[in-house]
Amino acid sequence: MPDDIHYYEPANGHGLPHDPFNAIVGPRPIGWISSQDANGHLNLAPYSFFNAFNYIPPIIGFSSVGRKDSLNNIEQTGEFAWNLATRPLAERMNQSSAMVAPDTNEFELAGLTPAASKIIQVPRVAESPVSFECKVTQIIQLQRADGNMVPSWLILGEVVAVHIAKWLLKDGVYDTAAAEPILRGGGPADYFQLGPEALFKMYRPGRKNNLPEQVGVFCDVFEAGQLFGSGQIGLVGRLEDLPFKHFMKAWRPRATDGFDGDRGVITTFARYYSGNSFEMIKGFTCHVADPG
Ligand SMILES: Cc1cc2nc3c(=O)[nH]c(=O)nc-3n(C[C@H](O)[C@H](O)[C@H](O)COP(=O)(O)O)c2cc1C
Repeated sequence: MPDDIHYYEPANGHGLPHDPFNAIVGPRPIGWISSQDANGHLNLAPYSFFNAFNYIPPIIGFSSVGRKDSLNNIEQTGEFAWNLATRPLAERMNQSSAMVAPDTNEFELAGLTPAASKIIQVPRVAESPVSFECKVTQIIQLQRADGNMVPSWLILGEVVAVHIAKWLLKDGVYDTAAAEPILRGGGPADYFQLGPEALFKMYRPGRKNNLPEQVGVFCDVFEAGQLFGSGQIGLVGRLEDLPFKHFMKAWRPRATDGFDGDRGVITTFARYYSGNSFEMIKGFTCHVADPG
């Protein structure tokens, strides 16, 4: 082993003052999960072993390392809500992680307000600018490579409703940095705060130079469920990513649009307007199941 590499096999310990795993796989988004038990006792807790796993339908998941109240509740009701943890809410998010009795309401503990959800019974955090209502799809107990079970559970849920504070939509485009999301680093106390300075752009190979691929970038936004809902594609697209960006504002989905959810493909026809005089109708197919 070269001298400049610290090598270890986790089963035998890392040989460092702190386990670097969390610091390496980081910063991680936080799943701030509200749930309730069958008797309606509310619960709220942060989970940074959290991420998104699918576009259509949107599926998110988090891992309960040990059997915790959130897992027990979600097993009972099949529902949970995800709430965005932001810098202004950081301290209250942290308070909600306190190890307390199952019937302690962490909304109250952390001074947060439950807001009624639309589809699920579990309330979301009113102070959080973004929330997802989720229905459980799978709860998977994790196991080691040798097949032995680990007392950790991956809880996956389909996002069935989304709430976004409108001030986070700039011309209809969700502004990730404006929300000031916080992310978990390693060690006992490290967090990262996201701001606009953290943003840089890099297009996938081929995407910058041909229209269908560029529209594919645009299509990434469609799975937010707004394609056919709002009828204002230009308002949900990342206009700065597109060619003809000043035309796109006039683009509407048409009756001929088709959506094949199994293949994650939208076939659509777009009209590009240049002022009032020029119109081009373009048909294309874009693959939308690829989040990269
Ligand atoms: C930022 C942050 C991230 C956390 N991530 C996890 C995690 O991914 N998995 C986990 O089991 N516990 C995690 N915890 C600890 C739980 O939040 C804590 O055990 C909490 O009491 C669980 O609440 P519950 O029993 O009400 O579900 C995290 C704590 C904090 C502050």
